[in-house]
Amino acid sequence: MMGSSRDERTLAREAYFLEFARDIAAVATMPLMVTGGIRRREVAEKVIDSGVAMAGIATALAIEPDLPRNWRLGRVDVPSLKPIAWKNKPLAATAHMAAVKYQLTRLSHRRRTVPGVSPIWALVVSQIDAKRRAKQYRRWMQAMAAA
Ligand SMILES: Cc1cc2nc3c(=O)[nH]c(=O)nc-3n(C[C@H](O)[C@H](O)[C@H](O)COP(=O)(O)O)c2cc1C
Repeated sequence: MMGSSRDERTLAREAYFLEFARDIAAVATMPLMVTGGIRRREVAEKVIDSGVAMAGIATALAIEPDLPRNWRLGRVDVPSLKPIAWKNKPLAATAHMAAVKYQLTRLSHRRRTVPGVSPIWALVVSQIDAKRRAKQYRRWMQAMAAA
């Protein structure tokens, strides 16, 4: 349920699990958190006002880690990635995740996020990185087996 793997009607609802969470909240005895598509303050508040315990925000916070503070300061901040309208939904979801990881990697290097990153570029970067890490891991496994 990430990125463009969700259909348009679902995306238009923003906090797209909210109705589902309301039904669960009626019978659940544990605290609930709603995640998925929250990137505007009003939507986050709607989630909390609905009675669920927590609003989970992943993508928007990866783009703007200061989001809650900006909202508190009254700024209208709606962090969004470049939309991915690919027909292949699993690939679109993978590219969405890659674009999110791209932002997190930049933050870890104390660099500004680039929400407008091309999803193809983010996908290529993440595939190369995954390959490099897999190689590193295999080498480590071999070294451990030899020790
Ligand atoms: C980098 C990253 C890591 C995530 N890790 C998990 C996880 O470990 N378990 C999980 O259930 N969901 C995970 N998610 C999914 C999020 O909790 C969330 O449901 C999803 O990203 C949709 O919300 P969003 O529109 O705010 O990103 C992750 C999402 C991102 C972007």
